Amino acid sequence: MRIAVVGSGHVGLVAGSCFADLGHDVIVVDNDEQKLAALKAGQVPIHEKFLPELLNRHRGHRLQFSDNLHEAVRSSAAIFIAVGTPTTNRGEADLSFVESVAREISGAINDYKVVIEKSTVPVYTSDWVRKIILRNGTDPDSFDVASNPEFLREGTAVTDFLFPDRIVIGCDNDRCAEVLREIYAPLTGGSYYERGDAIPRPDRANIPPPMIVTSTKSAELIKHASNAFLALKISFINAVASICESVGANVNQVCHGVGTDSRIGPRFLNPGIGYGGSCFPKDVLAFRAVARECGYDFRLLDEVMRINEDQRQRFLRKVRSALWTLRGKRLGVLGLAFKGGTDDIRESPAIFLVQALLQEGCTITAYDPAAVERTREVMISNLKFANSAYEAASGADALLILTEWEEFANLDLDRLNRELKYPIVIDGRNLYDPEVMAANGFTYYSVGRAASHPDGVPAGSILKNGVKKA
Ligand code: UGA
Repeated sequence: MRIAVVGSGHVGLVAGSCFADLGHDVIVVDNDEQKLAALKAGQVPIHEKFLPELLNRHRGHRLQFSDNLHEAVRSSAAIFIAVGTPTTNRGEADLSFVESVAREISGAINDYKVVIEKSTVPVYTSDWVRKIILRNGTDPDSFDVASNPEFLREGTAVTDFLFPDRIVIGCDNDRCAEVLREIYAPLTGGSYYERGDAIPRPDRANIPPPMIVTSTKSAELIKHASNAFLALKISFINAVASICESVGANVNQVCHGVGTDSRIGPRFLNPGIGYGGSCFPKDVLAFRAVARECGYDFRLLDEVMRINEDQRQRFLRKVRSALWTLRGKRLGVLGLAFKGGTDDIRESPAIFLVQALLQEGCTITAYDPAAVERTREVMISNLKFANSAYEAASGADALLILTEWEEFANLDLDRLNRELKYPIVIDGRNLYDPEVMAANGFTYYSVGRAASHPDGVPAGSILKNGVKKA
């Protein structure tokens, strides 16, 4: 099928590349000339596993880039809208980009088209897109508006797209549902998974994925409700972790006990310094605003956001209580991205903490496997960067782990201990076992678990290699 994807951001670029890999002819449209030139020249603008392979495979053949929305619409049967929906200062999603794309699409419709929302949008957006297209004089029988929310995570977006838990399509009639069924047939029919050149299947794959067909409004709500529920799960376990700290329980044990209940499940129950990124913070806020507009006061979501913010403050208090005063302290920081596996620092709790600690007078040397360049672009400060975790730790009063990169969970502890001035690790992501850290000579703080010390002495009184201060 010929498909247009409007917007070459994370969702648009991944969706476009994956549709091409399913065998469709795709035009990705964007009005950012620089971005288009970079994409045409073979550059990959985001850090995303398997995306370079897919772009290489299809660029110039089944995957084209263009700034001509009119032409792209005319030559396509399905048009996916994947433009940004930033937050307004009232906490709502700003839909002006969606509206202007809808307006442009209406002028280009020449035969039956399905216009599909892929961006995360409030319920009723499909109604508005339809109204805008009609308002511009388009024949109502020549198009349908559908919703096909995306559940991909940054870092594993390609795999999430091609091996989804489910595919949700919101369509209000069979004609448009048929178009979406055809687009996803290689996944729902399983033929994609039999191909020798398919992207490797992840450990946990639901093959073939089920297709859930709903009304457009239900599909729009499924997306917001899913993200809000996942954020709630994280805030819930962070609140439980705080109680664990107060009573001396171990949040890992609690998570294991709770998560093995199949009704709850073990995933998204990792406590830490709170959720960040371009989705959860924005979507919880937007869903809160949608509910308010619909006359429901969704206060549960206020609490989800409050716990999330509090989690960063709790971590700062932990750093202060481990190091006493902060002015002039040298800290090594591991992780700047909002989570492991991405170079994205939007709403990153790590960036928030680094900024707060710099303001308190700390000197910081940070290392991140992918996010250093992006951090350099936004941080005008005296933050220093290292080329490895060990370099960040070198001569530091303490090491802070702020992003759950796999690389940070597999450090040579002996070497790390030698690099640090004081063997103190404050882990915001629970990457290590407290007992293992103590056995390797560290004073170790984490989230929802008791601090551990090499020989049981209190934090702050450990000298290098576990020698007790006189
Ligand atoms: C999230 C959802 O997981 C995707 O399903 C959704 O499609 C996407 O938003 C979106 O709306 O576009 P993403 O923001 O890429 O994906 O990242 P997640 O892996 O969900 O992590 C979000 C944040 O939660 C990160 O800061 C991460 O460190 C944190 N997190 C995640 C925890 O603190 N604990 C957990 O157990 C899991």
